[in-house]
Amino acid sequence: MIKQRLDDYRAPIEKVLQNCLQEEGVPEELLESMNYSLQAGGKRIRPVLCLVWAELLGQKKENVLHFCSSLELIHTYSLIHDDLPAMDNDDLRRGKASNHIRFGEALAILAGDGLLTRAFSMMLQSNLAPEAVLQAAGQISRAAGPAGMVGGQVLDMTLSGNKKMELEKLKEMHSRKTGAMIKSSCLAGAILARGGQEDQLRAEEYGAALGLAFQVADDILDITGDEARLGKPVGSDQARDKLTYPALLGLDESRRLGLEMVARAKQAIETYSGIQADFLRDLAGYIMDRVE
Ligand code: IPE
Ligand code: IPE
Ligand code: MG
Ligand code: MG
Ligand code: MG
Repeated sequence: MIKQRLDDYRAPIEKVLQNCLQEEGVPEELLESMNYSLQAGGKRIRPVLCLVWAELLGQKKENVLHFCSSLELIHTYSLIHDDLPAMDNDDLRRGKASNHIRFGEALAILAGDGLLTRAFSMMLQSNLAPEAVLQAAGQISRAAGPAGMVGGQVLDMTLSGNKKMELEKLKEMHSRKTGAMIKSSCLAGAILARGGQEDQLRAEEYGAALGLAFQVADDILDITGDEARLGKPVGSDQARDKLTYPALLGLDESRRLGLEMVARAKQAIETYSGIQADFLRDLAGYIMDRVE
């Protein structure tokens, strides 16, 4: 079962996440706010992808665990900010009141800032060859930054309501806001394992296709999903007139395109064998079937 294997990869990551914010000098309310969102659950897809790619290419789990876990801090920050009234204005996240509902907007913004910056200090503390850490952290910073996730979130804001936009533009927005971090999570794992150019290319191709499929599935679940299972509101995209795959193409065509991307992701890793490669294939299949 894919879910059991996902749990097995997730377990050591959860352990790191439980203690990684404990630093001297962090104000108590800030620590509480950061931990509130970080410990609320979540699929942990990005750290798991980084870990599995590193293991696939021969790296040991204990060497990369902290680096991989730091990706979840960046992702959690993006969710806290994404839910703010100035952005998606959503009150529910990971089955709990959104961070700003519980702690107020100022602390939610600062908790996001704290998680983002702490992620990079965690990455740089990695006990690996400095060139590899530098290269992997560089990739992550570009993916999370203005030309990646942050830029994608800006497109998400500015393109709302524009139902005449071409598919290419929508694809670009999704590739940036969600695809970039998923792609670079895979690539960072390959870099940390000192994978060659061909391996790194495979990681990027797999991650880019998977990342796009992941956001298409997210758009579909906003319509067809169950709030209790998702742990976040359904119908939020429609209420905010967001430009999504189903809004532009309808549900059936969105599903078809999502499955096409899943096939592309699997194709990118067809030369690999072993338990990690099998897991990556099954995970790709699960992305479009998921209900949470
Ligand atoms: C939700 O991400 C936001 C998107 C980028 C689609 P996830 O679906 O990975 O959310 P969690 O981490 O499991 O809560
Ligand atoms: C968010 O996309 C992408 C991020 C970078 C956080 P959505 O706005 O669709 O994510 P959800 O549906 O709120 O999780
Ligand atoms: Mg959003
Ligand atoms: Mg949102
Ligand atoms: Mg969504």
